[in-house]
Amino acid sequence: MDFVKFFKNRRSSQETLLNSINRDKIPQHVAIIMDGNGRWAQKRGLPRYAGHKAGVEALKDIVKACIELNIKILSVFAFSTENWKRPKEEVSILMDLLTKYLASEKDDLHKNGVKINCIGSLDKLPESAQNEIAKAYVLTKDNQKLILNIALNYGGRLEIIEAAKKLAVNICEGRMKIDEITEEIFSSFLFTNGQPDPDLLIRPSGEMRLSNFYLWQTAYTELYVSSVLWPDFRKNNLLEAIIDYQNRDRRFGGIKK
Ligand code: FPP
Repeated sequence: MDFVKFFKNRRSSQETLLNSINRDKIPQHVAIIMDGNGRWAQKRGLPRYAGHKAGVEALKDIVKACIELNIKILSVFAFSTENWKRPKEEVSILMDLLTKYLASEKDDLHKNGVKINCIGSLDKLPESAQNEIAKAYVLTKDNQKLILNIALNYGGRLEIIEAAKKLAVNICEGRMKIDEITEEIFSSFLFTNGQPDPDLLIRPSGEMRLSNFYLWQTAYTELYVSSVLWPDFRKNNLLEAIIDYQNRDRRFGGIKK
């Protein structure tokens, strides 16, 4: 393969994509279901973990691109409450990758103004992962350039049940009245408390489902499905998704002005 030609072509297609982006309509919050790692590995005759490892490289590239594009929040679905059903070795490799990612990337992410915010039932994760999550959080908690929400042992239904339970406790203990519950109040009991809902949700690998991700938060999110498998997903693919998003007509249930 002629690599010089390959990189020249990629650069020029990126320039074309960047020229098509409307800088005044950049989505504030982008969410991604990082899917297709297993298929990526299978296509190459590699073990599944090789796909997850390559998925980490895609994540690094997309975080960088989000910073460059001035996206304010990036949410990535890394491990669902259902993913415990996978073989033990795969679960342990995923936990290991996450721990190593946080340990090796947190200083760089911190320098670049990224706040690392892991969300989900984190107390069920291995202790080594919990320690790295805590260290990354403490180091980066005041950063404001980009919030990186990493969903781990996260399930949208569980999140809603947990919010309902907390509300019930508040009501039973007399701190709140039933009539005071509004969408805003309910949202404040979710992991994404204080953050705007995602404007754009990207699902690589062609699957067209939410898989229990951000069930509450995606009520009016624009969905974009890409056939590219997550380990191959790069800045150009993100730019394509954003251009598509910028051509949508978001009415939020209203009518066009
Ligand atoms: C889904 O693809 C992917 C996952 C369950 C794991 C995602 C994890 C990473 C990208 C790497 C680790 C994360 C961090 C935050 C460092 P799949 O395995 O279900 O793919 P398939 O549908 O092709 O089998």
